[in-house]
Amino acid sequence: MHHFQYKEDELYCEELPVRLIAEEVGTPCYIYSLATLSHHFKTFDSAFKDVEHLTCYSVKANSNIAILKLFGSMGGGVDIVSGGELYRARKAQIPPERIVYSGVGKSVEEIDFALREKILMFNIESTQELKQINRRAKAMGAKASVSLRVNPDIDPNTHPYISTGMKRNKFGISVDSALKAFEEAKSLKNINIIGLDCHIGSQLTEVTPFVDALKRLRSLIDRLRQAGAGIQYLDLGGGLGIVYDQESPPQPYEYAMALLRELEGIDCTLIFEPGRVIVGNAGILVTKVLYTKRTQVKNFVIADGAMNDLIRPSLYGSYHYIQPVSRSLKETEIVDVVGPICESGDFLARDRGLPMPAPGDYLAVMSAGAYGFTMSSNYNSRPRAPEVLVRGGEYFVIRERETWEDLVRPESIPAFLEG
Ligand code: LLP
Repeated sequence: MHHFQYKEDELYCEELPVRLIAEEVGTPCYIYSLATLSHHFKTFDSAFKDVEHLTCYSVKANSNIAILKLFGSMGGGVDIVSGGELYRARKAQIPPERIVYSGVGKSVEEIDFALREKILMFNIESTQELKQINRRAKAMGAKASVSLRVNPDIDPNTHPYISTGMKRNKFGISVDSALKAFEEAKSLKNINIIGLDCHIGSQLTEVTPFVDALKRLRSLIDRLRQAGAGIQYLDLGGGLGIVYDQESPPQPYEYAMALLRELEGIDCTLIFEPGRVIVGNAGILVTKVLYTKRTQVKNFVIADGAMNDLIRPSLYGSYHYIQPVSRSLKETEIVDVVGPICESGDFLARDRGLPMPAPGDYLAVMSAGAYGFTMSSNYNSRPRAPEVLVRGGEYFVIRERETWEDLVRPESIPAFLEG
């Protein structure tokens, strides 16, 4: 479900024509629908309404502070993976007691920042990290609350780059070593183990891997409790997939039903870290066609949006549905939609059937709300695109387009090079 629909032949975001925004803000630009964002957050969160839980939206999917503020105002917390994400979350006034901190490589500065902010917990991924957090907490006279992130060795059947819960992945502690890690933690005076965590991957389109991982965690909780651990939280990570093309991922309520069946009598507050399922289909990337080019073997549509704006097609071979912002009776042709960046890996779609656009036409790259802007870069010295939030018939620029001046602001030329 999303609020990007055609009225007559014009694509609308809620009550606004996408063309109007594109003309006023320029392209490429990201456009998000507030109604879709809120709907998805509510749908996910209310799927667990019958149990004690906290929905910690995963900031990495879309970290604009306006969006964080929206979810915070709906009772959400956040899952962060860096000091920068913590800074954003606090800017958006997410209460620290609703912040969980994941990631394999937390630096001393980041740990100190999180301790100062008194976040709910660190999800730790190694015993070295556990000791580091203990040392930092001791230095600050604090006690750090910690969950052990377990790697349950489950194949999530997703793209290898975003599969995280298998033995060969860098994430978490193996189920077998979790008890040992707990025993070690017991002797660390500034650590309090309060939970267990796992995240097995992203864009999962079936429920079975989640359930299998949960089963492994569940029996581990029993063993940890027997060993004296006060496990109050069970964090099941994120990972629920969305429809980009022909996928049929479980709906949040189906996901919830399958998990809750396994969780009977668990006596834990549940934590979830959804990212994509909340924001993915709530955003589009709008790009303008600059030129078209026919070669002997290909039809190229050269757009002003590129891999620096949306890297998913180039990086993972991901599919994003592309449709015209204004529909007309043009003949469908097989095209590559490419950007201006100087490498052949720069494409938004390959061999795609599209009504052959003309220069000046706008295209909407759908399902770009998650891992779109957040993975964008300045490659080829392209200023990053603006982000726009639509609410009914109004829109708000929630991040301005970068300028050429912005590109060089942090740089300087040493005196010896000046003439
Ligand atoms: N929790 C942890 C610890 C994570 O590592 C992730 C995502 C999430 C939660 C949120 O997962 P989600 O619900 O969004 O699937 N750039 C890739 C996705 C990378 C996901 C990384 N971790 C992409 O564009 O597909």
